[in-house]
Amino acid sequence: MRKPEVGIIVGSNRRESINRRLAKALAKLASDELDFGWIAIDDLPMYNQDLEAGRPPAVRRFTAEVARYPALLFVSPEHNRSLPAVLKNAIDWGSKPTEQNVWRGKIAAITGTSFGAIGTAVGQQHLRQILGILGVLVMGGEAYISFRPEPVDDDGNFVDESKRAFLAAYMERFAALVTKLTR
Ligand code: FNR
Repeated sequence: MRKPEVGIIVGSNRRESINRRLAKALAKLASDELDFGWIAIDDLPMYNQDLEAGRPPAVRRFTAEVARYPALLFVSPEHNRSLPAVLKNAIDWGSKPTEQNVWRGKIAAITGTSFGAIGTAVGQQHLRQILGILGVLVMGGEAYISFRPEPVDDDGNFVDESKRAFLAAYMERFAALVTKLTR
């Protein structure tokens, strides 16, 4: 049986993003149960309703990619106790026009990392609220991960066993939910 497909959206446009490093490790961790693809958001222009008449190619690429995945994994930093503007911008593009809201009916899980102890917890709450409004079924529970000390190496392997075990259980729950709702 084919594995359910999950699109990964990293809420950072930073080259050395620690959230992208975590996302890479999560994709590796859950690769037996889920097939992952990457959905870039860093090339999207700033949302402007004036552009709706002729949506830029990057926006059309982005919405087409979101549309093809039944499920999404958001791995995002927190900026000033909220989601980064680059991620909100992507969500806004996908939400319009309202009758083509590309988020509606998706299944999602949220996680994220920062160097602080509770880093991303508040940002994740904001993201959860926005996705809920747009019709995304966001998995319950929470996973905010401190990147100090670094939990993963550059090749996407966990070097911290307690974080690996915690996130393996989180990803197993997500895989079970996606499988149940897409079969
Ligand atoms: C941050 N950072 C941060 N960290 C945190 O835990 N809570 C916060 O509210 C913020 N706020 C914040 C605002 C802005 C504008 C920046 C640039 C940074 C620090 C942030 O977690 C850190 O830069 C991470 O490296 C961001 O993740 P990526 O981009 O490396 O994935």
